[in-house]
Amino acid sequence: MSTRNALLIVASVLTVASAVAVAAEGPNLGRVATPEEIALWDISIGPEGASLPAGSGTPKQGEAVYTAKCLACHGENGAGKPNDQLGTLPGDKPPVKTVGSFWPYATTIFDYVRRAMPYNESKTLTNDELYAVTAYLLQLNGIIGEKDMIDAKTLPKVRMPNRDGFVTFTRGK
Ligand code: HEC
Repeated sequence: MSTRNALLIVASVLTVASAVAVAAEGPNLGRVATPEEIALWDISIGPEGASLPAGSGTPKQGEAVYTAKCLACHGENGAGKPNDQLGTLPGDKPPVKTVGSFWPYATTIFDYVRRAMPYNESKTLTNDELYAVTAYLLQLNGIIGEKDMIDAKTLPKVRMPNRDGFVTFTRGK
């Protein structure tokens, strides 16, 4: 190996070493998030509902939440307007793809509403309000009865009508 090549190797090793040192130190911006701050964002609930929180609600309790916090955008009985329709209306042709007619897992309603609704003040509902409004949407869609109580145990057991309506896509052979 020529001296020149050897010097080039030494130089590039030094460059890598100093890059690693910078990465370890970080760019010195902000601070490390606290476990409490991470917990606020770490709220995903899978289809099986494993991380559902404590709390419960019935469709009747949910109707009150809906009237106060959802109706203005989603209409009477989830009929929609100005925003998305949330209830299945018989005679919708073609059928409207919404919560009851399309979503395969009931746990997704809780997860979605918790992270995204009410649209103008997301992440403000309590867990009881979330269970209740989820129960109300399920009842509106004829999936549970008026007296059914929804909590971390019962929600994952609710079978959505379109559970088997999706085709599994596998890439390649
Ligand atoms: C300020 C208006 C507004 C309010 C209030 C509101 N929503 Fe929504 N909602 C929207 C909009 C807009 C969308 C569509 C969002 C998108 O597609 O990204 C939506 C979508 C949804 C969906 C998904 C519908 C689908 O089939 O894709 C659900 C479920 C839902 N809202 C539930 C609720 C519930 C429950 C409440 C009350 C706790 C609520 N929303 C309050 C505006 C609102």
